[in-house]
Amino acid sequence: MPVLALTASDIKSDFIEALIIPVCEDAEIHAHRTVQAAQRRAARFPEHTGEPDEELILYRPAGVAAERVFFMGVGKRADLTLERLRAAAGKAVNRCIGKKLQEVRIIAPSARKSGLPQAGILTALFEGARLANHIHDAYKGEKKKHPLSRIEIQVPPRLLGQMADLPNRVETACRSTILAREWINIPANDKPPATLARTVREEAETAGLSVTVLDETALTEGGFGALLAVGAGSVNPPRLVILDHHPEGAERTVALVGKGVTFDSGGLNLKTGDNLDNMKADMSGAAAVGATLIAAARLDLPIRVVGLLPLVENMPSGSAIRPGDIVRSYAKKTVEIGNTDAEGRLILIDALAYAVETYSPEIIIDMATLTGACVVALGEKMAGLFTPDEDLAKLLLAAGDRTHERCWRMPLLKDYKELLKSEFADLRNIGATRWGGAITAALFLSEFVGETRWAHIDIAGPAYFRKGSDYCGAGGTGFGVRLLHDLLETLAAG
Ligand code: BES
Ligand code: ZN
Ligand code: ZN
Repeated sequence: MPVLALTASDIKSDFIEALIIPVCEDAEIHAHRTVQAAQRRAARFPEHTGEPDEELILYRPAGVAAERVFFMGVGKRADLTLERLRAAAGKAVNRCIGKKLQEVRIIAPSARKSGLPQAGILTALFEGARLANHIHDAYKGEKKKHPLSRIEIQVPPRLLGQMADLPNRVETACRSTILAREWINIPANDKPPATLARTVREEAETAGLSVTVLDETALTEGGFGALLAVGAGSVNPPRLVILDHHPEGAERTVALVGKGVTFDSGGLNLKTGDNLDNMKADMSGAAAVGATLIAAARLDLPIRVVGLLPLVENMPSGSAIRPGDIVRSYAKKTVEIGNTDAEGRLILIDALAYAVETYSPEIIIDMATLTGACVVALGEKMAGLFTPDEDLAKLLLAAGDRTHERCWRMPLLKDYKELLKSEFADLRNIGATRWGGAITAALFLSEFVGETRWAHIDIAGPAYFRKGSDYCGAGGTGFGVRLLHDLLETLAAG
């Protein structure tokens, strides 16, 4: 039985362990009489204010068939957003997991009364609840917490038919987000490129994707010089995983490329203490792309989507690339290594050039934990979006707003290309100055996509959280899966 479902059950008689009611501070957002009455009784408790983060739990309240009712504050009606609902649903699910419950039913606010779009309300509630229902305990001996087996949303009967495909779509996108989180959370000692490639292949084949994995021999024959150069210092050789969702009659092709550095030590330009922390998450772009492809296959989106995951470990050793080395990339352009810690762009250019040449995609998007500079610019809650394409920027910014995987458009200043010039090779892999590091990194990538419509999304900030939040535990966030999935759904519809 799927975890998510819509229901039009009778609130007075269909018994449930936990009922969750989002409540505004200053306005009624529910249309159901029974819900309104329950809320009026709850409002008699002075501690129940409806402010965000406030919650009241009543046990077996009169008039409602529930063991407990969680009244979750979502703040003032004028400030109500879908993200507030996502957070409230996530928080409630966390409470229920803490109480060792099995199932919950969330009452959806009325679209008319809340001023929010109907499908958006249901999607946000499902997402918050479903994403909070993930517990990363693969490496724990004792499993203390157990996820809920069922999350229902209570809607008026007419919506059951209208929104019939919504739970499965959201469930699929959330399962993929969770899959990406799990991959990111695997410690680097358990995911050398070949192992991670095998793990991704298994999941992808189960979902119905065609999978190709290029090993070091194939990469050498293919001329993937930049990818191989980054992998040269590690005893664990690189891989290029290619996932292909190719439905019959598909007219559009989108290529997605994800940075897959299973551990970024910096190489001979070794990172220092603090900066080495969480570098197992430097494959978050690859995780997001792989998981998005799996969602596209499960939902059988009517466009072709190709995912390319260059997987590599960046290590210092006697066989590692050195600063000053010059490598020949897949596109035949030579690159002088200014800094071995700027490895992400090296593996991406080979995958980008290969994708453009092999699939002639209409659109190519890469996602990468590429630069610390982007985190300095935007913090940890937003991704940097770089694209010369106005329409693609609009599409991605809108997808970011809908999913709350927010992107901020950054400039691709042409004159900064100067900074990437090398005395000896066609390009250098770092800028002549450290200022504007996220921009020079993006400009470097732009040299390898030709005329193809392209966007680069730097997720170095939001890919990984040291601490958990309302609907995401500590660790990999799976940022980018819902964003890319939303974009693909839009492209498939248009
Ligand atoms: N993986 C890092 C970027 C990163 C930093 C991701 C912090 C997540 C959190 C990337 O490979 C890197 O080391 N970039 C360097 C580039 C520099 C050497 C030009 C950086 O940002 O310092
Ligand atoms: Zn690096
Ligand atoms: Zn890196």
